[in-house]
Amino acid sequence: MPIRDSRPADFERLWRIDQACFDDRLAYSRAEFEYYLGLPNAFALVAEQAGAIVGFVVARPVPRRRTGHIITIDVLAESRRLGAGSELLRIAEDRLRIAGCARVILETPVSNLGAIAFYHRHAYAVLRTLRGYYADGLDGLEMEKKL
Ligand SMILES: CC(C)(COP(=O)(O)OP(=O)(O)OC[C@H]1O[C@@H](n2cnc3c(N)ncnc32)[C@H](O)[C@@H]1OP(=O)(O)O)[C@@H](O)C(=O)NCCC(=O)NCCS
Repeated sequence: MPIRDSRPADFERLWRIDQACFDDRLAYSRAEFEYYLGLPNAFALVAEQAGAIVGFVVARPVPRRRTGHIITIDVLAESRRLGAGSELLRIAEDRLRIAGCARVILETPVSNLGAIAFYHRHAYAVLRTLRGYYADGLDGLEMEKKL
């Protein structure tokens, strides 16, 4: 599946994919989404299928900590299990490595078993439970991969 850097014109499509991928407690508001995309060094990559964006990843390196952060990775339900998520993650990790990161961290809800399986498949390990990390007190898992 072709992967490219996102462009400003993709914003609305990416936000709508995020809305479709998460329930109201977890999906970003437009303002939150804009905030994450605007963080220093943040980048977004998109996966396209038949010319339409079906998934994306937002990540950012924090060079002084030699740590990369996967902020979110979302693939539309009808395009899952086709390798898009893996390709997005692989290229994001390459970018983070090139930016000087020795590890990648991310957070995911404890209830998101599909994502947890996906991250395990990509050699992420659970670092700790983040009590009440999400809205409504839902716990998160912090996961890490050494690059
Ligand atoms: C997590 C997500 C990004 C994975 O994207 P994807 O394109 O379906 O992933 P891939 O096709 O590359 O999957 C690679 C492997 O990961 C594992 N995997 C992926 N989704 C899985 C699931 N729901 N259950 C169990 N294992 C899963 C499998 O080992 C899979 O290989 P296989 O299909 O040959 O069995 C996608 O399910 C998604 O967008 N979910 C909703 C949003 C979300 O939860 N994002 C994570 C935010 S923390």
